[in-house]
Amino acid sequence: MSEAAPRVSRQICPRCGRETGVDFAQTRCPSCGGLLEVRHAPPELRGAELSALFAARSANRKGLDASGVWRYRELVLPGADADVVSHPEGNTPLLESRAISKWTGLARLSMKHEGHNPTGSFKDRGMTVGITQARRIGAAAVACASTGNTSASLAAYAALAGIPALVFVPSGQVAAGKLAQTLAYGARTLIVRGDFDACLALAVEAGRKLNVYLLNSVNPFRLEGQKTIVFEALEQLSWEAPDWIVLPAGNLGNTSAFGKALKEAGELGLISRVPRLAAVQAAGANPFARSFRDGFSSVHPVKAETLATAIRIGDPASHERGVEAIRSTGGVVTDVPDREILEAKAAVDAAGIGCEPASAASIAGARRLLREGVIRPEDTVVAVLTGHILKDPGLILAYHQEMDPPPPGANRPIEIEPSLLEVERVLGS
Ligand code: F0G
Repeated sequence: MSEAAPRVSRQICPRCGRETGVDFAQTRCPSCGGLLEVRHAPPELRGAELSALFAARSANRKGLDASGVWRYRELVLPGADADVVSHPEGNTPLLESRAISKWTGLARLSMKHEGHNPTGSFKDRGMTVGITQARRIGAAAVACASTGNTSASLAAYAALAGIPALVFVPSGQVAAGKLAQTLAYGARTLIVRGDFDACLALAVEAGRKLNVYLLNSVNPFRLEGQKTIVFEALEQLSWEAPDWIVLPAGNLGNTSAFGKALKEAGELGLISRVPRLAAVQAAGANPFARSFRDGFSSVHPVKAETLATAIRIGDPASHERGVEAIRSTGGVVTDVPDREILEAKAAVDAAGIGCEPASAASIAGARRLLREGVIRPEDTVVAVLTGHILKDPGLILAYHQEMDPPPPGANRPIEIEPSLLEVERVLGS
C-alpha cells in the first residue's frame, strides 16, 4: 500500500444506517446483511463550476484525466490518486445512427457504446475503481463470479496491479473469447458445474472465508466507477438530460449505479431534471421485470435461460438497490424475448456499430417501450450498449449462416471455386 491518503469517504448501509470505514473489506452490513453503499464528502465545486472542471480535464487528457472514470474522481473515489490502477478506460462514444433510429422508431436515439472499453465492456469502469480499492486496503487476492465480461475485466486489472485473481465461471455458459481473455490475462480460473447464481454464491463465500476481496457488483466501489457511464453521457449531451436512459439488466449492479449517478448529478446541480431509467431483461431471465409488474411487492427468482449470456441471471444480487434506482427516477422495467434481442443485434451490427447480444436488449427494449406507448416518439433516449460485438461470435455465425428460415438481416456467406467466373455469377445473381 502506498502512503496514506486522506480518507474522505465512508461506507453506509442504506437499510439500517450502520456506517463502516471506507476500508471495510466485506460487501454486506455487519448488522443487518444489507449491501453497503459508498458515500463521499461533497466536492467543493457544484453546478457549472464542477462541469467546467470536468471539461478542462477532458481537454487535458493526461495522467488521471486520460481516464473517463477518474476525470470525475471527486464523485468516484476522492483521495485515491496515488493508488489508481487505470488502463485508461471510459471515453466511449455516444453514437447516432439513422438506421437504428428507423429500426426502433426513435428519431432522437443515441447509443453509449461501452464496448469501446479496454477489455470490451463497461465492466472496466467499475473494475478500475474496485482494483484501486483492493490496492488501498492491501488485498492479498481478488475474486469474482462472472458470465464473461467481469472475469475478463477483473483478470486484466488484477494483472495491471500485480494482484492474484480468482475467477468462477459457469461451465459451458461463457463465450469462448471471454474465457480466452480471462486465461490470457492470467487469472486462476475455476469452471464451476453450475449456473451464474451458483458461481456468485461460491465467490461470496470465498470472499467471506478465504481472505480474498470480492469484486462482483455487490462491491460498492464497482458501482462508483460504473456511475461514470452516466456522467460521461450527460457531459457528451452538454449536461442536457435525456428523457430516458435504457440499459440491459442482469445482476442489477449497473441499474443501481445509474440510479446513484443520477441522484448525485441532480443534487450537485449538474442536471436540472432527472432522466427516467428503463431496465431491460431477457424474457427468460426476467426476475426484475416480474417484480416491477407487481409493484416490487415481492422478488421472483427464476431459473434463467437466454441466449444473451451476460444477463443470464435468475436471482439478482442488487435487487433492493435496483428497485431504489427505478423508483427514484420514475423508471420502468421490461423484458424482451430472445428473438427480438437477436433482431435488434442484427440491426445494430448491420448499421456498422455492433454490440454483444445482451447489449442489444436495450435497443429491443427501447423499441418495445415505444410500441407500448411508454416512450414517446419525440423523446430523447440514450441506450447503453454494454459490450463488444466480438463477445459471442458463435451466436452471430449461427444467426447469419445456420438459422432456417433465415432471420431478418441474415447475411449468408457464399462458398465458391477460386475463379472470376464464379465471382461474376454471384454478383449477377
Ligand atoms: N451487459 C453486459 C455486456 C454484461 O456483461 C452484463 C453483466 C450486463 C449487461 C448486466 O449488468 O449485472 O450490472 O445488471 N455481466 C456480468 C458479468 C454479470 O459477469 O460479466 P448488471
